[in-house]
Parts: sequence; structure tokens; C-alpha cells
Amino acid sequence: MKKTLLPALLLFATMHAQAQDAKMNTFITNLMSKMTVDEKIGQLNLVIPGGSAVTGSVVSKDVDDKIRKGQVGGLFGITGPDKVRQAQKIAVDGSRLHIPLIFGLDVIHGHKTMFPIPLGLSCSWDTALIKKSASIAASEATADGLNWAFSPMVDIARDARWGRISEGSGEDPFLGSQIAKAMVQGYQGTGYKSARNVMACVKHFALYGAAEAGREYNTVDMSKIKMYEYYLPPYKAAIDAGAASIMSSFNEIDGVPATGNKWLLTDLLRTQWGFKGFVVSDYTSLSEMTNHGVGDYQAVSALALNAGLDMDMVAEGFLNTLKKSLTEGKVTQKQIDDACRRILEAKYKLGLFDDPYRFIDESRPAKDILSDENRKAAREIAAHSFVLLKNNAGILPLKKSGTLAVVGPLADSKRNMLGTWSVAGDYTKSVTLLEGIKNVAGDVNVIYAKGANITDDPFLIKRANALDANAKEITTDAKSPDALISDAVDAASKADVIIAAVGESADMTGESSSRADISLPESQENLLKALVKTGKPVVIVLFNGRPLVLNWESANANALLDVWFGGTEAGNAIADVLFGNYSPSGKITASFPMSVGQIPVYYNHKNTGRPYNGEDFAKFKSDYLDIPNEPLYPFGFGLSYGNFTYGDVKVDKTTLKGNETLTATVTVTNTGKYGGEETVQLYISDPVASVTRSVEDLKGFKKITLQPGESKDVTFAVTTDMLKFYSNNLKYDWEAGQFFVRIGGNSHDVKSASVMWSK
Ligand code: NOJ
Repeated sequence: MKKTLLPALLLFATMHAQAQDAKMNTFITNLMSKMTVDEKIGQLNLVIPGGSAVTGSVVSKDVDDKIRKGQVGGLFGITGPDKVRQAQKIAVDGSRLHIPLIFGLDVIHGHKTMFPIPLGLSCSWDTALIKKSASIAASEATADGLNWAFSPMVDIARDARWGRISEGSGEDPFLGSQIAKAMVQGYQGTGYKSARNVMACVKHFALYGAAEAGREYNTVDMSKIKMYEYYLPPYKAAIDAGAASIMSSFNEIDGVPATGNKWLLTDLLRTQWGFKGFVVSDYTSLSEMTNHGVGDYQAVSALALNAGLDMDMVAEGFLNTLKKSLTEGKVTQKQIDDACRRILEAKYKLGLFDDPYRFIDESRPAKDILSDENRKAAREIAAHSFVLLKNNAGILPLKKSGTLAVVGPLADSKRNMLGTWSVAGDYTKSVTLLEGIKNVAGDVNVIYAKGANITDDPFLIKRANALDANAKEITTDAKSPDALISDAVDAASKADVIIAAVGESADMTGESSSRADISLPESQENLLKALVKTGKPVVIVLFNGRPLVLNWESANANALLDVWFGGTEAGNAIADVLFGNYSPSGKITASFPMSVGQIPVYYNHKNTGRPYNGEDFAKFKSDYLDIPNEPLYPFGFGLSYGNFTYGDVKVDKTTLKGNETLTATVTVTNTGKYGGEETVQLYISDPVASVTRSVEDLKGFKKITLQPGESKDVTFAVTTDMLKFYSNNLKYDWEAGQFFVRIGGNSHDVKSASVMWSK
């Protein structure tokens, strides 16, 4: 395209967008002029008629009647074009102004074709694949009548005790931001021109992942500088990518619950960041503010509207109290109008005023849901999410011959393959590891034994199974624990290699699933000990929704492959990796602690005044008496069947000025026997600044493929944007001085070059 054409095109696009906006505004102003206060408040009400996505103690009552009365703006928790059509028809034909509803759901890592849990997805470091997973999820969700996904969850988490670490992208704000953007783009496409895209809902705004002690829904207390530097960037990235909506979180920020926090929902979100979409509360987080102790039901509802909340999920505080607050002067008509307008704008942009049924097509589920193509993508994406943590003496990949003992409570458990937040997922359609091995390596002789229950602890069983009493994730075998182990040892004695499928049940992570002890349950530790004792090589295939403490496993198993919860195609994808059809390429995105006592443990920590750098123990350093400071596996770590070696970091200049760009290059060579993909990571360290900085920060990454013996130069352009940080008064800028450019295959093993950069 000729350069001169570009500004003209941009101008045309801007004018077109302005004309569209003007048209929308006129339509909505006209509609709102006909609405009563009650009908406006009704638009702010999001209800759940009960069913599969209930995540609190309250379920909305008399939903049909409320829709008819214009007291409902949107529904969530129902799926299927028939049911959605029924509800939409009540709104469109039965309510006075015929305003259509929006339909949301927790479409988190896939809709019916499930992809790996988000923490697993993030380990692929592959934003194109992640975007694809979101776009397939959007296509399936819309085929099911929906138009709003409560995703992406972009909360940074540094605490593996917190169950919801499984739902995010780990501990790093840069990677988290790239993934947030990819997911929003995947869900929303180019803006619902096709009825295969859904509105994204970024959550949970904000800082939910920093709950004290990793305990669910707990208090958050954080300095502004830490928020801006480490926790807020992914939300901002999702908003910059055009996310249509955002969900407020359960926690408090600076002493005010997020759902009623004006600084958060208005000053930061709208004034500083320019967010134009709508804000929805989390499930009853509005009424829960009474428990936080900031007022009664009416007061917290007014607080939320004043703060900038537009839509109330399930609490019905807006519906039941706003009119009274309006009469009493506690909220203004303009605040109600603004919130109502934002909800109507979302409906307008979805095209629902043109055609309320545009997302409802009864012929689509059969074609578009769980299609071969979607399952194929799920298998490929899952294989990219697995992380090889150990592979002694190249035990993996396995040969497609001989005898394998496949043991462990997760080896043949369809119920546990999908992972947490698989609301619409059908676990009966998932592929287990045992099935996958048979599919991929038909000639291998497989002996299966369950070996152990996921746990024998009645207290944990009761709590971890609470989500679905009809389809329990943790079952207790009729055989005794000793008999199960003895079966497994028997199988192992006849095999060349043991595959031990161990870990957590799917909902031992996720919402309301914090754990204080993040090691493997005792029943499975006993099994592993017995297996190791046989002297046969043990390959641990680990199912988990969080980093676990794995010191013994890491020291004693021959190989350790972390497969998270891989989704519908989990078993096939794991087998693809075990047998070398795909060389593992995942890299962990949350540090694996050596002990719960290290938590929070994360790579981008500060140096302290008395840093301990791993030298011989000396008194009065920042360390522990009993364990090292380093995690068991650092952020960014993951092996391949290939073996990648890094050359020195070459920089094109060692002194720079102003807005120059630095080019940093490293040569990566595959010295191994197998080809594979490697994620080359760029970190920057700023050793002297006006505020203390973290020891290093991820600023870039590139994924490359290398055949055996092949070398590639990987180049990063380092700009002054990458040097910026927040000062004490939250000014975002860089300061002149020395910088280290570090490149490597994980946050710990990096090569470094030093440059001086002046203003
Ligand atoms: C509560 C969860 O915190 C949130 O992530 C989810 O979207 C809502 N429930 C709706 O199910």
C-alpha cells in the first residue's frame, strides 16, 4: 500500500466509527427516553436461573416473571439454543420495551471442547495457539446460544496455595498481558460482525490473586507501586485490546471492596485507562460488601453504583434498593442512566437490537460443537501446554514397543481430565491417559492398575468432592490402599517402564479450592514410593492445577511430565508427547516452591539489602536456615527432547542514548538427538534506580523450532519502553544508567550483556 494512502484510510475509519457511534447514541437515547426508572434499573440486573454455574449460595428467583417485567438485563448459566431462545422470547415478546437479553457463561478454557486449564495454556507461551483456543471457545459458545464469556481471568498469582492460580497465566505481568490480549482477540474477533464471537469479560478486577496466605476470598493489601508494576498490567492489556466488559473482584483494595471501590472502577479504569465497556460485579460480591463491613444492603448497592459498577451479578441489590436510594438522594439519575446506557450499548454492539436471535441457531451445535476439527486443535494445544520437568538419561520419549505399567488414580479417570471451570464440558467425552496410550502406541503391551485413591483423607474427599455430588472426582476404591499398591507393584514387576499418573483431582484447584499443603496426597506418595522401590524406571505424569511441592518426586522419579488438566483430548495429547510424536515445549509460568514456607516465591523479586546469592551459608543474609531461597523449578523452566544450548548475548552497541534501539542476539543450538521448540526469553535488569527494582523482568520471548544439530540466531529489539518502571509518585519512565540484557531458556539460566544507556 502506498504510504500516502494510510492516513487517508485511518481518517476514513475514524469517521466511519464516529458515524456508527452517533447512530448508536441516537438509538439508545431514544430508547431510554421511553424507559421508566424501574426499567433502567432492570437492565443492571444479571441473574442465574440455577443450574450448572452456581458459585454461591444465592440463586435468582422468579426469573421468567422478572424478565417480563423488564427487571433483567442478562442471564447466565443456561446453555443451548432452545433454552436461550425461550428466555430471549420472553424478553422480546413479553416485556414492555422488547429489550433483548445478553447471555453469559463461564467459558474459561473452552466451551464443550475443553482446552488445558489456563495455567497450562499459559505454559505454551504460544499466543497464537491461545488465541485460537479462545476463538474456538467463542464459536462453540455462540453455537450454544451465548454471547458473553466470563474470561479471560488475568489475575497475577504468586501463591500456589490459592486454588485459582489454575485459572490465570501465572506470576508474570508481561506474559500475562500478552495472553490477556490474545484471549480478548480470540473471543471478540473483529467485533461480532460474525455471530461466532462473544464479548470478553476480563476478571477479576483487581488484585484477586494476591489474597493473603493464598486463602480464597481473603483480604488483599498492596502498595500502589506493586499494583501498577506487577498486578495491573494484564487487566490494562485486555482493556487496550478492546475487552467489552470487566468483572469486579471479591477482595478489598486499600480498605474498600473492589465492587464498591470508586478509585478502582472509575478513577483508574475509566479516567486513567479510558475503559468504555461495562463493569459487572462478581457473584453476589455486591451484597457481600455487607460482610466486609461497609454498610447494609441498600448502602452497599448505592456504594457500588457510585463507584462505577454497571451490572449486579445475582445480588439484586440494584434491583431492590436503587430506586429508594434515588428518592433519598443517595444515588443520582445520571448514575443510573450511565450504567443503563453502557448495558444497552453492549447489546447494540452485539447486534441484538437488529436481531435478538442472531446468536441462536438450532442447527449449529451439531456442526460446530466438539467437531473433529475442534478436537484436533485441542489435542495440539494440549500437547503444547505440557512441561517436562525432568528426563533422566533420556528415558522419554518412550519406544512404541515392550510392556508399560500404567498406574495411578489419574491414569483412567475421565472425570478428572477437563480440569476446573469446565462448566459446559462433558467429561464423558474426554480421553484418558490409558486410552491415549492405546490410541497412539497400539503395539505397546499395557498393564493398568489404579494403585491408589487420589486421597484417603475423608476431610479432603468431602470438601474436594463438594462441587458435584453426583459425579465425584475422588472415588474410594473397594480395595484397600495396601491391595491397590500391591496390584500396582505387581503390574510394575512385569513392565519395562512405569507410567505413574498422579496428582490432584480437577477441583482440588479452582474457586474455593485453596490448599495449605500443596504436596501430593499421602495415598499417592505411598504408591510412588512402592513403585520406585521396584527399581523399574518411573515416569511421573503429573495432573495438577497449581505448582506443587515435589522435592521427593523430583529426586526419585526418572522423568516428570507436568500435564496440568489437558481438557477433552488430554490422554491423546499426553501420549503424543510420551511417545515423541511431539517434543514437549512448555515452560512453567509460576515458580514451583521447595516448601510452602517459601511462598510467595517468584522470579521477579527484589534484591534486599542483604541478598543471599547462593554462596556458602553466612549469618545475617536474607535466607532460611533450613531451605534454599530458590524454588525447585524457576519461572520459565521446561525441558525438551532436544537439548538447547545458548551462546553469549551479543549486543550491537554497549552505549546508547535517548530513544535508540538496542539489538541483542543470541545463538541457540540444538545439541540433542530430537528436534523441538524452544521459548527463548529476554529479561532486563536495572541494577540502580531511584526506587528498588526487581532483580530482572521478562520483556520479550520468541518461540523457535530447531532440528538436531541446527543453530538459530534469535534477535530482540530492546527499546526504552522496556526500561520503564513506576516511580514513587507513579510516574512511568526510565532512568539512565547501566542495564543487563539477559537471554536464556528460563528465568534462572540466562546469559547476560551489560549496556550503558543515557538520556
Ligand atoms: C464466581 C467467580 O469468581 C467468577 O469467576 C465467575 O465468573 C462467576 N462466579 C460466575 O460463575
